[in-house]
Amino acid sequence: MQEILAKLDAMRSGARLGGGEKRVASQHAKGKLTARERIELFLDEGSFEEFDMFVQHRCNDFGMEGQKVPGDGVVTGHGTVNGRLVFVFSQDFTVFGGSLSEAHAEKICKIMDQAMKVGAPVIGLNDSGGARIQEGVASLGGYAEVFQRNVNASGVIPQISLIMGPCAGGAVYSPAMTDFIFMVKDSSYMFVTGPDVVKTVTHEVVTAEELGGAITHSSKSGVADMAFENDVEALLQLRRFIDFLPASNREKAPERPTADPIDRDDLSLDTLVPENPNKPYDMKELILKTVDEGDFFELQPDYAKNIIIGFGRMNGSTVGIVANQPMVLAGCLDIDSSKKAARFVRFCDAFEIPILTLVDVPGFMPGTSQEYGGIIKHGAKLLFAYAEATVPKITVITRKAYGGAYDVMASKHLRGDINYAWPSAEIAVMGPKGAVEIIFRGDIGDTAKIEARTEEYRQKFANPFVAASRGYIDDVIMPHGTRRRVIKALSMLKNKQLQNPWRKHDNIPL
Ligand code: HXC
Repeated sequence: MQEILAKLDAMRSGARLGGGEKRVASQHAKGKLTARERIELFLDEGSFEEFDMFVQHRCNDFGMEGQKVPGDGVVTGHGTVNGRLVFVFSQDFTVFGGSLSEAHAEKICKIMDQAMKVGAPVIGLNDSGGARIQEGVASLGGYAEVFQRNVNASGVIPQISLIMGPCAGGAVYSPAMTDFIFMVKDSSYMFVTGPDVVKTVTHEVVTAEELGGAITHSSKSGVADMAFENDVEALLQLRRFIDFLPASNREKAPERPTADPIDRDDLSLDTLVPENPNKPYDMKELILKTVDEGDFFELQPDYAKNIIIGFGRMNGSTVGIVANQPMVLAGCLDIDSSKKAARFVRFCDAFEIPILTLVDVPGFMPGTSQEYGGIIKHGAKLLFAYAEATVPKITVITRKAYGGAYDVMASKHLRGDINYAWPSAEIAVMGPKGAVEIIFRGDIGDTAKIEARTEEYRQKFANPFVAASRGYIDDVIMPHGTRRRVIKALSMLKNKQLQNPWRKHDNIPL
């Protein structure tokens, strides 16, 4: 027996070495951790239970029969993050470049299936050269098996991809179908076709980093939700992020007791909105002063900055926050911001996370680039997402809520549960100047008349009371009491039940 145990020990140690010391050293030299080091850092100490350490590929072509590495380039299993169960796969670049073979795919599929059965998130730590070239179609089949599971798991368990190395070709589509993509700066990239193909086809000369690095995807394409400085920061932030999420759509997000008083007033909010309606202010200040302990996990902070999305907690429970940002494009809704917020709203709705919407929006962005780009269809995504969401929806209008954008931003008409306005709110079809120039076109040129008409319009509509008189606004609240009022509303809505009509699925304008 002793001999067998010693043999098992030796086999385990061998498997833990991955592609060997030389390749591990080369991974470290690139500033990257190994697959196992990443799992160790990510999970609670000692919590990792590994699956399939001895799985090997079955390829006998191109001399592969003599190159079998236990585990076949991916470490899989489950463990805990702050005591909560998660499943994880971590691709091992030191073994055939982390490339995906049939067996490698089967290992990933196994943990995805298990995660679905028990209701726990799947976290992918991606670092792979893509399809195992020696295996041909068996590898492509493996990818498709993973893709199918990504789709089946969507909206059932949270799926998060952390890209920590190459991710190219069709391989990008598995992360693309997960809920969130995080990337590591300088060492990760994602693209459908790499720089060489791009050069041949379009004659553009571009580096891998420029084409699909973390900065590109977190600021230009919007593919990535966050870009982190290095592996360590990415993994620690991922731990923090998971704390905001429920384990599955069968459970509520975890509650984290807070020392932040639920009735904490913040008098500085009374002067947040400037006197001049055209002057910007930072909506993030309101978010940070409203959530528990100022702890806000913002997503896509460098993309479509005219809208802010992210998670915070109110009285210990997770809320998804969507807020117009007057500092950027005056907070207008455009194509990118609509898509960004719509997907976030849908995530919150799928996982029973209440949505707090903070509104200061002068409307949809005008212009040919927006119209030609399909703002009609893309803007409709956000409208659709809010309208179909059945989770508690609380809205606070701080200043402008104009036109269609008023309707879109979780208005009462889209089944907003509690709709508040600050006294500085202006709820109207459009701003006073634009309105007067249309309805009193004949007076244009007569400055005094136009000014008088503008003032008249401002008096009538540039306030929250017309909407409040119709019940579209439940109350006009003091800015300093926003936290208290939102927490009370969330508490009242705790057991909210609302169902959409039965259908196979809806047809959101994609
Ligand atoms: C088999 C691979 C591999 C792959 C890398 N390796 N990619 N083995 N299949 N796809 C092996 C290398 O042979 C090498 O083995 C080791 O991994 C490390 O690779 P290097 O090239 O030395 O590393 P580096 O210089 O860092 O370059 C990384 C890389 C490059 C940019 C990822 O390896 C590369 O271009 N690989 C091929 C990428 C690719 O075309 N994949 C297929 C994409 S199509 P040794 O033994 O020397 O250490 C695809 C379709 C998916 O993925 C479809 C889904 C629908």
